Amino acid sequence: MEDHRISNVVVLGGGTAGWMTASYLGKALGRYATITVLEAPSIPKIGVGEATVPNLHKTFFDFLGIPEEEWMRECNASFKMAVKFVNWRTPGEGEPVGRQLRGRPDHYYHLFGLLPTHQNLPLSHYWAAKSLGGQTTEQFDYACYRESPIIDARLSPRFADGTKWTNYAWHFDAHLVADFLKRFAIEKQGVVHVEDEMVDATIDQRGHITSLRTKAGRTIEGDLFVDCSGFRGLLINKLMREPFLDMSDHLLNDSAVATSVPHDDEAHGVEPATSAIAMKSGWTWKIPMLDRFGTGYVYSSRFTDPDEATKDLCALWDLDPEEQPLNHVKFRVGRNRRAWVRNCVSIGLSSCFLEPLESTGIYFITAALYQLGKHFPDKRFDPVLIESFNREIETMFDDSRDFLQAHFTLAPRRDTPFWRACKDLVLPEDIQHKIAQYRAGLAVNMPVTDEATYYENFEAEFRNFWTNSSYYCIFAGLDVLPEHPLPALAFRPDAVEGAEPVFAQIKQKQAELLKTLPTTHEYLRELHGR
Ligand code: FDA
Repeated sequence: MEDHRISNVVVLGGGTAGWMTASYLGKALGRYATITVLEAPSIPKIGVGEATVPNLHKTFFDFLGIPEEEWMRECNASFKMAVKFVNWRTPGEGEPVGRQLRGRPDHYYHLFGLLPTHQNLPLSHYWAAKSLGGQTTEQFDYACYRESPIIDARLSPRFADGTKWTNYAWHFDAHLVADFLKRFAIEKQGVVHVEDEMVDATIDQRGHITSLRTKAGRTIEGDLFVDCSGFRGLLINKLMREPFLDMSDHLLNDSAVATSVPHDDEAHGVEPATSAIAMKSGWTWKIPMLDRFGTGYVYSSRFTDPDEATKDLCALWDLDPEEQPLNHVKFRVGRNRRAWVRNCVSIGLSSCFLEPLESTGIYFITAALYQLGKHFPDKRFDPVLIESFNREIETMFDDSRDFLQAHFTLAPRRDTPFWRACKDLVLPEDIQHKIAQYRAGLAVNMPVTDEATYYENFEAEFRNFWTNSSYYCIFAGLDVLPEHPLPALAFRPDAVEGAEPVFAQIKQKQAELLKTLPTTHEYLRELHGR
């Protein structure tokens, strides 16, 4: 029988996407295929401090067989238990700490994991019934999750003996991750690394790419080409001429100014969360790592300019704009009409990008690699595989775009032209429907598995990535409440009473954890041997 297996894969680009792709395919294809990474050292990669989501370890590093401690040490990684939204409800200048709102700071958490359920209904719905009935004034994230006060106290998601008690993700230095994976792919998997710039390509009669040509005169042949060239989209957009669907009518931010700030961990501890601090014309991320934090103001160029944004970012952290090394980035928001065209698959920024809120960049790479592994073609390139992959990427992206847009549209702030303009953007029908369901008291995207299955089985997570828990954290966090409790609950007063012990257990667990956990700083210092 004829062997149709792909024998040569060429990856264009050596950023996070390029080396994640090379190492993932190195494992998935084993010795049956040669993988070459072509990377131009003169063309910089996007390398800001990065925040992730929990499936990164299970779906990517576990698949490669790399223990968490090993890659965390190599990449100066820290823990992330949530995204902390600061000042998304109160008007004013950028301030790193929440302004006072109803007697407490204006911040709320978007936590990972699923909510506890009681009689088949998530705890969110019992909290809503109590909140709407005036029986509690406690914020949703503090009432329904163990983690919120633990994050406030900067404690660790692992006990001192290493036992994990909650789901978490990571912050890390993106350059270190790319370097670590590069070494792994070259030394352990035999991936071929070519440092040169692609200048041209050849295409056959079917429109398939057959080789890339480089500045130094090399020709690199392949059967399958993965475009990881970043926002340039050199293969997918320029060569294959696949249109990039601009989505700036959904999300206004298109620029960022980023830097790194030294931090006294001994005095202040290390926060185990990414902060998203609302600004006049966007928001600023704060990604804590050991001894420093990465930060960047993500803004809309329609409402501010690089100089003004730099001034505002520096004012936020009390930095001198003349002295501070700054990285200005302009980004495109949207996705390719098709992520995979003929024998060219785009992964990373060449494929799609929203904006950094909710840390979807590396998640999209991980998910695309999982889907590529699942739909991996042979030399016949069955169009059914390609169409199915493209549908998965399209659904994944559009669903996340809608979720992000809702953050800006529902935020009560209207104090600046940026925040007012966010309210004029039209929400797609799908998210409008979800908001209507939420307002009517229903669960949005009720998870169909328990938490353990959800995080163990990426297929289940991918099909339902933003669950009721995420929607509740954001909507309730922004003070958007259901119009009334779920009507069916009125017929089940026993269920409402029965949920009380679940709330009480959370309080008890919070108290126990506050007494027994090490600080995030202590845990990381030990892990990193500092
Ligand atoms: P990247 O641009 O990094 O790499 C492109 C590669 O292609 C480079 O190696 C370059 O040399 C190479 N190349 C280009 N042209 C070439 C040529 N002609 N020949 C050879 N090589 C060539 N994600 C996330 O999960 N959490 C986060 O917190 C953030 N934060 C964030 C902030 C901002 C402001 C942005 C813009 C993006 C993020 N992201 C993110 C997204 C994240 O940065 C991104 O997904 C990864 O870094 C992947 O980037 P790429 O590898 O796709 O492109």
